[in-house]
Amino acid sequence: MPLAWRRLPEDLAIAPETTPMTTSASMIPPLPPNPLRKGLVDDRTRDACAVVIFGASGDLTRRKLMPALYNLAAGNSLPSGFAVLGVARRDKTDESFRAEMKQGVAEFSRTKPIDPSTWAAFERGIGYVRGSASDAATYEALRARLEQADKERGAGQNRLFYLAVPPSEFGPIVEGLRASKLVAPGGAAASARSGGPWSRVVFEKPFGHDLASAVSLNDLVATAFDESQVFRIDHYLGKETVQNLLVFRFANSLFEPVWGREHVDHVQITVAEEIGVETRGKFYERTGVTRDIVENHLMQLLCLTAMEPPISLSADAVRDEKVKVLRSLRALQPNEIARDVVRGQYARGIVRGEDVNGYRSEPDVAADSRVETYVAMRVQIDNWRWSGVPFYVRAGKRMARRVTEIAVVFRSAPHALFSARQGGIAPNVLSLRIQPDEGIALRFISKEPGQQTILRDVAMDFRYGATFGSNTPEAYERLLLDAMRGDATLFTRRDEVEQQWAYIEPVMRAWDTDGATPRFYPAGSWGPEQADELLSRDGRQWRKP
Ligand code: BG6
Repeated sequence: MPLAWRRLPEDLAIAPETTPMTTSASMIPPLPPNPLRKGLVDDRTRDACAVVIFGASGDLTRRKLMPALYNLAAGNSLPSGFAVLGVARRDKTDESFRAEMKQGVAEFSRTKPIDPSTWAAFERGIGYVRGSASDAATYEALRARLEQADKERGAGQNRLFYLAVPPSEFGPIVEGLRASKLVAPGGAAASARSGGPWSRVVFEKPFGHDLASAVSLNDLVATAFDESQVFRIDHYLGKETVQNLLVFRFANSLFEPVWGREHVDHVQITVAEEIGVETRGKFYERTGVTRDIVENHLMQLLCLTAMEPPISLSADAVRDEKVKVLRSLRALQPNEIARDVVRGQYARGIVRGEDVNGYRSEPDVAADSRVETYVAMRVQIDNWRWSGVPFYVRAGKRMARRVTEIAVVFRSAPHALFSARQGGIAPNVLSLRIQPDEGIALRFISKEPGQQTILRDVAMDFRYGATFGSNTPEAYERLLLDAMRGDATLFTRRDEVEQQWAYIEPVMRAWDTDGATPRFYPAGSWGPEQADELLSRDGRQWRKP
C-alpha cells in the first residue's frame, strides 16, 4: 500500500512551530523536536534488483532518474543488492557514464552537496551498455551485464526496465526484450506465488499520441508483459501534494459531505508554467500542450478531485474509481468544441521582467505553427455527485506565474443577510496548491473588527513548508521506489490511459481539420481573452492564483 497512514504517537502530536515570545534567549526552554518535520520514513525495499535505463544519455536520466536513485540510496531505501545499468547508443565506458551521472546528480539532486561515501557505494553499482534498441546484440550484451550484476551486486535476477526514450522506441525495446527472453514470464501474481524473480517495465509519457496509437502500444506491450508488470508514469502522481489529495479527502470527515453538486458551484484546475518550450520545439510541434499536459497530468488531477472513495487503497481499487470518473466525462460533440475549448499560443511578452520570444520564434518551431501552448476547457462529469457542476481546467506555457492549483468554489449562502454594500460576498473557496507554496487554503467571510458590520474575505492557510519542512522527496523517488516494490497505485492502468485519450481525441481531431489559428496571448499573461469568456458566459471568473 503506497499511502500508509501512520499515526503519530499522542505525546508527539503537537509541537510548537515557532519560538515562544520571550525577551531573553537564555530563558527559552529547548524545543522538543518537531516530529512532523521528520519527513518520509522509507522502509528499505525488500527485493534486490537491477534497474535498466534505456535512454541513458538523455536529459531525464541525468536530471531526474539518477538524482532520484542517489537520494533513495542516501535515504537507505534501496535494497542491499542493487545495480543500475544505462543503455544508449553513444559510446561510453562505465567510468565515463559514472562521471557524467555524478555531474548530473551534483547539479540536480534535491540534497546537496553529494555525500562522497554514499556516492562511492552507489556508483559501484552503475554500469553502461552501448547499443541500439533495434539490435539483438544490445540485448545479449545487456543479458551478460545483468548476470554479472546478479553475481557481483546480488541483484537477485529481478529487473526493472525503465524506458526513458521517445515513444517511437517503445515498440523496438518491448520487442527486443520479448525476443531476447529477458523478461521473467508471468505477472506479479505468478512471481509472488513461485517466489521467483520478477520483471517490470516503466514507460515514460507520452503513452501514444491518440487513442488508436495508445491501444496498439498497449497491445504490443501485452505481448511481452502482463498488465501487473507495466508501470506507466505520470510524474504528477508522485508529487507529495497530489498524493495528499486522497488523504485530505478521505482521511478527514469534514470535507466529503460538501464535496459534490449540493454544495459546490464549480471547480477550477490550473496547471500554469512560466517556462516556454525551451529546447523542446520539435517535440512540442508534434505534441502541443493538450497531449503534453492535459491528457495526462491535468486529467489525473481531475480524477483525484472527482473520484468516489475507493473501497481500499489497493492499486486497482484506486484506479477503478479514477476510471469511473473518466468514463463519466461528457464527450464533447464537434459543435461544442469551439464553444467549450479555447486553445492559445504565446506571443512575445514579458516574463519575470524579461522580454521573451513568442512560440513561433522558438527554435525548431514553424513560423506559422498552429500548435497550442495553452488550453482551457469546460468539462462536465455526468454522474450522481457532479451533475451540473462544471470543471474549468486550463494548462499553459509562458503564463504569469508557475502554479498548479485545484480550487473548489462553493455555492453562495442561500439567503443574503448581508448586503453587497457591506462588502465581502465572495463565495467560499477551498484551494489545494499543488506547487509551488504547497498548501491548502480555505477562504471564508469574516467581520472586520469595528463598530460597523463590514465583511472581509479571509483565509485559513496550511503550508507544507512551515509544518513539515521543505525537503520533501521528488516525485521520481517515490515512483521508482513504488515500481521496485511492485506497487502500481500511482501509475496509470491500461484502461485509464485509453479513456484519457478517448476524451481528448475529438478535440484534437476538430483542430486538425478546422484550419483555425490558436488565440494569441502575450507571454507572461493568464492566457487569451476567449478563456475568460468561457467562464464569464456562465457568470463566473478564473481565479488569479
Ligand atoms: C512534463 C511536460 O510532463 O511536465 C513538460 O512534458 C512540463 O512540458 C512538465 O514542463 C511540468 O512538470 P512540473 O513537475 O515541473 O510541474
